[in-house]
Amino acid sequence: MSRGKTAARGTRRARPSRAALRELAALALEARRRAQAPYSKFKVGAALRTRGGLIVTGCNIENASYGLSMCAERVAVFKAVSEGLTDFDAITVAADSRRLTPPCGPCRQILWEYCGDLVVHLVDLKGHSRTLRLRELLPLPFDAGNL
Ligand code: THU
Repeated sequence: MSRGKTAARGTRRARPSRAALRELAALALEARRRAQAPYSKFKVGAALRTRGGLIVTGCNIENASYGLSMCAERVAVFKAVSEGLTDFDAITVAADSRRLTPPCGPCRQILWEYCGDLVVHLVDLKGHSRTLRLRELLPLPFDAGNL
């Protein structure tokens, strides 16, 4: 796969439009309904967008062997990358909690590796939302530049 080395990483890219974020939120909320979360009961959906407007979704998928459970964000990234998609500009994370749900630490690291400083859009079922950059969530990232 040709992912222009550090193409996405660090560079400031145009923000997706409000309409694009609205569409991502709708798809992340829809993906959340497919979450397999019988153990935590905490359902999460994600929708990852390429700059060209393709969208890939994910939901968390748990296992009776709890440690094998996978977050919605990583499901979306792995689906997209395995389909050969590159150049991501935004991910929306949808959950139903008192506070908006940001990607966990391991997901931030995976997002940085494959998406660089993309827009991270958090939404809940009540219509609350917040938009950040991954840099804000992962200010001193470890990546290929450190090797
Ligand atoms: N989870 C996600 O899918 N994404 C997040 O950003 C936070 C946590 C999942 C993992 C687990 O299935 C459940 O939520 C509770 O931690």
